[in-house]
Amino acid sequence: MAHSFISIKKFTEEPHSKILGYPNATNRQIKSRINELEKLKIKSICLTGPTTIGSLEILGKGYVGVVVLAKRGNKEVALKVRRTDSQRENMKNESILLNLVNTVNVGPKMIDVSKNFLVMEYIEGEKFSEWIDMLKGLGSAKKLKSTIKNVLEDCYRLDQIEFDHGELSNISKHVIVGKNKATLIDFESSSTKRRPSNVTSITQAFFIGSGIAKQTQKIYKNSSKEKIILALKNYKQEKTRENFETLLKILKL
Ligand SMILES: Nc1ncnc2c1ncn2[C@@H]1O[C@H](COP(=O)(O)OP(=O)(O)O)[C@@H](O)[C@H]1O
Ligand SMILES: [Mg+2]
Repeated sequence: MAHSFISIKKFTEEPHSKILGYPNATNRQIKSRINELEKLKIKSICLTGPTTIGSLEILGKGYVGVVVLAKRGNKEVALKVRRTDSQRENMKNESILLNLVNTVNVGPKMIDVSKNFLVMEYIEGEKFSEWIDMLKGLGSAKKLKSTIKNVLEDCYRLDQIEFDHGELSNISKHVIVGKNKATLIDFESSSTKRRPSNVTSITQAFFIGSGIAKQTQKIYKNSSKEKIILALKNYKQEKTRENFETLLKILKL
């Protein structure tokens, strides 16, 4: 379906202004944010997505940002708008982290940044939890395996550059599954100072914890938890390709 875009000029007043200044903003703040958007060449916003602010549909909402589909030139992009009550002073740090993971082909492609906005590639697809719900009906182990493998490979590349995402235990919020690939998102809580545990955290969430692990078990029968934990332990000690591939084997990927 073609998306219908609304000029950012319309976003000066409620209810639309709530998107640019959530949960609360003064008229001055909204005007200044619209100026910022003009500098970023964002011309219009499309109110679509699975979440809402009031009655307006958006792509998503977290503690730092409100994410909407927007147009930059004639290209569709995802626009992350800093919440007015966010603990972060600006979007700069997140943009640095996103640029860094892009160097190993992870995450949405970083496009532009300003104090209150981050412009990135729009990732079309479903949150992992919704995607696996749809998949269950089809019982497709093959599709699930290739998706998980794709995500683990991304996590392996992050481990290699000593980058820790930080929130991968929550798969549903941080993996979007599209037609051809799955993408990790939200590098806001990431760090290059912590010991990376991307592969370990996400493997635990996929196969060992409650929640998602219960669902993956229903779709395909994996090795015992003991075997998986042992393979993870070895990988954690030495994050080599060899140990990673042994882990993939144990996980039947
Ligand atoms: N590049 C993107 N393309 C599509 N949807 C996105 C994109 N980035 C974020 N989202 C959606 O917006 C939600 C909130 O974004 P997120 O970066 O997690 O914000 P926060 O840092 O506030 O937690 C995500 O859960 C996801 O549903
Ligand atoms: Mg988040």
